[in-house]
Amino acid sequence: MSILKGKHIILGITGGIAAYKSVYLLRLLVKAGAEVQVVITPSGREFITPVTLSSLSGRPVISEFFTANTGQWNSHVDLGLWADAMVIAPATASTIGKMAGGIADNMLVTTYLSAKEQVFVAPAMDLDMWAHPSTQRNVATLRADGVEIVEPGSGELASHLCGKGRMAEPEQIVEALEQWFLRHDTTLPLKGKRILITAGPTYENIDPVRFIGNHSSGKMGYALAAACREQGAEVVLVSGPVSLPAPAGVERVSVTSACEMLEASRRAFDTCHAAIFCAAVADYAPAVVAESKIKREGAEIMCIELKRNPDIAASLSREKGKRLTIGFALETDNGADNARRKLEAKNLDWVVLNRLGDPGAGFGVDTNSVTLFSRGGEELSFPVKSKQEVARDIVATVFSLR
Ligand code: PMT
Repeated sequence: MSILKGKHIILGITGGIAAYKSVYLLRLLVKAGAEVQVVITPSGREFITPVTLSSLSGRPVISEFFTANTGQWNSHVDLGLWADAMVIAPATASTIGKMAGGIADNMLVTTYLSAKEQVFVAPAMDLDMWAHPSTQRNVATLRADGVEIVEPGSGELASHLCGKGRMAEPEQIVEALEQWFLRHDTTLPLKGKRILITAGPTYENIDPVRFIGNHSSGKMGYALAAACREQGAEVVLVSGPVSLPAPAGVERVSVTSACEMLEASRRAFDTCHAAIFCAAVADYAPAVVAESKIKREGAEIMCIELKRNPDIAASLSREKGKRLTIGFALETDNGADNARRKLEAKNLDWVVLNRLGDPGAGFGVDTNSVTLFSRGGEELSFPVKSKQEVARDIVATVFSLR
């Protein structure tokens, strides 16, 4: 569930070609559960029709100080009080200039001057206009006034020139809003908590081109990072090599081997209140890493001597003090017994059992089915769900959020 659910958002639209993207932005905000009031400038109406916007927002679009046919006064002061946030997307150079200079000659800028809550601006203009010292000066003034600028991207512009000035994508604008609310909402249950999460596989080098690894995709650990962040936690994600983007607002530390993962996790653990060890850490690594590529010629059978890797979950949980630690158990046989044994042996508070043989569970897939065991003897099973839902179940259970 998005943190934007139930939030009152003013969506300001000005007269730029990127106004077509505002329709999608409006849809995303409404889908996230926000109530959206559109305020559009007269030139914005040249690019996008108020009928489209009012249909999607479920509210009449405001453009002028007075509604022409009824004479009703649209109060910018009331709007400013109603809103939890205001986002102006696209924001033209002209509107940015008026906002910086306090020139309240239309409903949108007047509403901005009355806004009590956070304002976001997503500029959109041609590359030379964006680079112009006057625009940059005005943007700096808005920043100094506390406005959050959602930086424009680079690419082909309406002029067919290439450069910086494209409005940020609607998804990025929604993400900027969500991250802002996550940073500032003091009512979230994990606010003020810092959580370490390990995720993905580790790679243990054999020689400069080969390694020992496993099939972990990182999906489960990354979903846990997002679920903790959703509840307001600061998250340090120590991740082995995976091809996933870091979840928004999460601090990722990328590592390769088990030893690097231990080192990075230990550094983070010091300042954390809890840790979730979801990584599939290689239990053994080659005792000696060959300096040059090992040649194929020679014996039919080749042996690589392995040495035991450090156990990250066990080492850190041994020194955990008051911290809550949660481990995983990936099992093929005797799942429950092995999970309980790991709970004790690694000094964990909870262990999450997933069985490789269960349909839709384990490595790579987008789903998982888990059973949670606690030190206090609780045992809770969850059916197959998406890894995002499983992560929310785990977070809600271990941090007693239900
Ligand atoms: O990444 P995905 O493709 O989404 O797959 C998710 C997953 C299957 C990898 C994940 O759900 C999972 O089960 N992770 C733990 C895998 C594992 O290594 O399990 P284990 O039973 O061998 O280890 C037990 C616990 O000790 C785990 O918390 C593990 O992170 C930790 N461990 C193990 C060995 C080691 N040297 N250091 C550790 O910290």
